[in-house]
Amino acid sequence: MNNCLEINGLTFRPYLSAAQIAKRIGELAEELKRDGADESTLFVCMLSGAFVFASDLLRAMNTTAEICFVKWSSYCGTQSSGELTEQLPVTADVKGRKVIVVEDIVETGMTMRRFVEKMKAMGAADCKIVSLLHKAQLQTHAVHIDWVGFEIDNAFVVGYGLDYDGKGRMLRDLYAKV
Ligand code: IMP
Repeated sequence: MNNCLEINGLTFRPYLSAAQIAKRIGELAEELKRDGADESTLFVCMLSGAFVFASDLLRAMNTTAEICFVKWSSYCGTQSSGELTEQLPVTADVKGRKVIVVEDIVETGMTMRRFVEKMKAMGAADCKIVSLLHKAQLQTHAVHIDWVGFEIDNAFVVGYGLDYDGKGRMLRDLYAKV
């Protein structure tokens, strides 16, 4: 297939182009502002995968709001391990704050469910979620995703911040495993 690429022995095909992603991010930025995200919001970027999305989304919002970075991971290769490790904890004081977590992709929902619970336990007034991608058919943990860029099927995807075994994050487009 044309424009396919190979990473560590797996083949990936073009899935969503940089232009399609950019267009949707412009819409999402407007949706978040319309729904109340403002200068008082604390944005939390879930590393590593969301670093590209958070950077484009928040600059599209052209906001002076605060951002902090956390790193929780559950993935090993192309599958969820079912275990969650907190590699970089929340350091910001979230008490009484309106929090929006920026995530790259929600699959089982385990990461986001636990994260929202953690924000509530730390005293956040509210914790909403914006995710670029959502594999709704694979979600098993109950958590509401407030804003979704694209609902996708069960494909394993790389590019635009998302990786396969550490590779592919800097690709401008999104690719799906063949
Ligand atoms: P969940 O906790 O099962 O919802 O998994 C969410 C995390 O799994 C994301 O933050 C990603 O790090 C990773 N993940 C899930 N699906 C993919 C994928 O298709 N490509 C790359 N990473 C993925």
